[in-house]
Amino acid sequence: MSRNSMQWRQRPKLPPTHFADPSIYSDPDLFEEEKEKIFKHAWWLAVHESELPAPGDFRTYRHPGDAQLVIVRGEDMKVRAFLNICPHRGNLLVYAPSGNAKNLVCIFHQWAFNGKGDCVDIPREKAGYQERICRNDVALREVRTAVSYGGFVWVNLDDNAPSLESEIGSALDYMLPELEAEPMQTLWYYQARLKTNFKLIHDTNSEFYHDYLHIYNRITGMLKPDTGYFQRKYTAFPGGHASVGSMNVSYESYKSSGRGQLGWPHLAPNGWKLVDLFPCITFNLRTSVLRIDSYIPVAPDDVIYEFRLLGLKSDSPEIRRQREKDSAVIWGPFGRNLHEDLLASSGQGMAMANGSEAMYVLQAREEDLTIHDEVGMRHYLAEWSRRIGRSSSDPYASERLAARAA
Ligand code: FES
Ligand SMILES: [Fe+2]
Repeated sequence: MSRNSMQWRQRPKLPPTHFADPSIYSDPDLFEEEKEKIFKHAWWLAVHESELPAPGDFRTYRHPGDAQLVIVRGEDMKVRAFLNICPHRGNLLVYAPSGNAKNLVCIFHQWAFNGKGDCVDIPREKAGYQERICRNDVALREVRTAVSYGGFVWVNLDDNAPSLESEIGSALDYMLPELEAEPMQTLWYYQARLKTNFKLIHDTNSEFYHDYLHIYNRITGMLKPDTGYFQRKYTAFPGGHASVGSMNVSYESYKSSGRGQLGWPHLAPNGWKLVDLFPCITFNLRTSVLRIDSYIPVAPDDVIYEFRLLGLKSDSPEIRRQREKDSAVIWGPFGRNLHEDLLASSGQGMAMANGSEAMYVLQAREEDLTIHDEVGMRHYLAEWSRRIGRSSSDPYASERLAARAA
């Protein structure tokens, strides 16, 4: 029997950890709190070091904590990040998404900065400022940067935030042998812009019950009990991170996949490992290619979804071509999985948009922490609740209580 409006909006008869209030996926005020309490203190994966191979190479990065950054490799080969703001009159210092420059020169009045953030030129400096301005006082604002876990460049706006290592803890240990086997190389980078909430993307990445969405997964692994699929277990780590146990994918079941026998150092043949990191990163090593998802929340219903596909720096042109082909088959922009994930996440964003009569979202599957258990989402939202100081199943409980008491 169908439900009327009141029944539709009723709280599920489940523990509060097993469902979420839909407002956490659409409320603009909660999004502002997420910015202040999470985004501005988290480590964000901004770029891979292979995308900045030479001194002077730079990339810009839109940070979810309302900051524009520029990431530069200096003459000393060190990668640093700076606020992309000219200290003179606050112009955007670098407009191009990427490039190479000896110095970063502001277009407005041509102040110049080197790869260490030092101010190295001010036109007609003495004529205008005499001795009243010291170049040290107009250097760029450096942002904490760490190059780690396989050469990724991580940034954090908060000078006092815990270190990257302490934030990640042991969540990536399971994949470290593969990540650190050899220097890696970004093969492809691309973006999708989704009208959805960033947590819905994370939800999709952190539960596998939705493998029913993917024809490719149905054919290559899920329907074969001997692949180990149903034995894959979630491991939850402090900080909202989780990994999923490895499995071997039966690529041979999909005749037209075009896959060769290419693998990855230390990974079992046809192996697959996945780690989700709080708040917005997924490391996904599927046999011959590492895919990194890093999504940038822009608004409660707007996300820049970045994808990187990586191989090894030592790859011959033939091996690189094979990795690219493997990427194209599954993970790339025209691959067999990704469009399905994006469709579902966008569909959720559309249906549960702010102002809609959205229902409580169920995250209640329990299957002994195996692959269709929804513990990944619950674990993530438990961390979200801890950081934001609100329950994900009842975010405005304290305001309601205060209003009642008044
Ligand atoms: S604002 Fe950049 S040089 Fe003036
Ligand atoms: Fe998926």
